[in-house]
Amino acid sequence: MASDLVLNDVTKRFGTFTAVDDLSVTVPQGSFFALLGASGCGKTTTLRTVAGLEEPTSGSIWLGEQELTGLRPYKRPVNTVFQNYALFPHMSVRDNVAFGLRRRGMKDVAAQVGDMLDLVQLGGFADRKPAELSGGQQQRVALARALVNQPQVLLLDEPLGALDLKLRRQMQIELKRIQTEVGITFLHVTHDQEEAMWMADTVAVMNAGRIEQLGPPTEIYEFPASPFVSNFLGQSNLFAAEVVGKSGDDLQLSAYGERFAAPAARARATAGHVWLGVRPEKVRLTEPGQQPPADHNWVRGVLTDTCYAGVSTEYLLKTPWGQEMSVFSANQSAGEPLTPGTEVVVHWYPSHSFVLQRPDGHGEQPAPQYAADPLGVAP
Ligand SMILES: Nc1ncnc2c1ncn2[C@@H]1O[C@H](COP(=O)(O)OP(=O)(O)OP(=O)(O)O)[C@@H](O)[C@H]1O
Ligand SMILES: [Mg+2]
Repeated sequence: MASDLVLNDVTKRFGTFTAVDDLSVTVPQGSFFALLGASGCGKTTTLRTVAGLEEPTSGSIWLGEQELTGLRPYKRPVNTVFQNYALFPHMSVRDNVAFGLRRRGMKDVAAQVGDMLDLVQLGGFADRKPAELSGGQQQRVALARALVNQPQVLLLDEPLGALDLKLRRQMQIELKRIQTEVGITFLHVTHDQEEAMWMADTVAVMNAGRIEQLGPPTEIYEFPASPFVSNFLGQSNLFAAEVVGKSGDDLQLSAYGERFAAPAARARATAGHVWLGVRPEKVRLTEPGQQPPADHNWVRGVLTDTCYAGVSTEYLLKTPWGQEMSVFSANQSAGEPLTPGTEVVVHWYPSHSFVLQRPDGHGEQPAPQYAADPLGVAP
């Protein structure tokens, strides 16, 4: 499309350190696109190259037919909203929002500024100073101040990071509404996986300066491309397995002497060494004395930990081969959670499995555990 934002082989080095590593991505015009990744993976650096605050070491950046690389920041049809809002403290809300327009020599800005304040629902706050506003209100002023310039792309760098959880949830809904209303491309950086999934049409998971997987939230959650993604976005149980055959649409797998099945359509590799994956919420516990359904995948284990979380109970169990496995069980009845030490059988539909590549000889031992939330900030 005419005004897609395109990054072509963008690399950014600081000395010998590579912060962004040969990154190519197309952000469709009018989309809400999230860059998700752990601290230090290169998200802000990527945004800064788009804004013109850093020049890439190599590669180029385009907005439709227009090359942005090499242009001064103010020449780019791009605005940024930062985590700390960066409002002018001595100016009123009105003057903060009018700032960009006035700097471009526009005189009669009252109507535009008024419209923007209405859009972010701060119509009655025009005369206040930033210090007289809550965090969420300041954040909305920052948004209005960027949007009033009618950028083609709005860059948002952890814009909700300073807000408490409840306000952050409200602002997520608000931001989404505003994006739909104005139709501008939003490139939103966050390390909060729920925020990325809730808001974005497309989520790109970044790891060490590269995009590891990109797609709609349901796709990357339900069918992750790598062990990293499967455990960065939510959690996954991964078993080191071998493909031993095929029956109908399913792959037959062997792991630790047990047999499993998984749809070939949900496999990133269909032969040899693989990871068999299943999300904890897809796994069910059998009631004591009951057998799992015959066509299900199942694993026997002993509960090692029970964590009651209100809406659900999170169980950890140890498999006969010593691997830790996690199971989320929705609390649909009033019964007490099972206690540690209980022997259980857990099972899941083969169609809920996914299969990932496993480099030869790696992982005969328990699967790698990646921190789902390396910063400990997710709710
Ligand atoms: N000006 C700089 N000089 C040297 N190294 C830098 C510079 N800016 C960033 N880096 C390094 O590049 C890497 C990526 O930084 P970046 O700010 O892009 O990370 P991030 O993904 O935004 O992380 P966070 O979630 O913590 O904001 C980091 O290791 C950082 O230390
Ligand atoms: Mg950052």
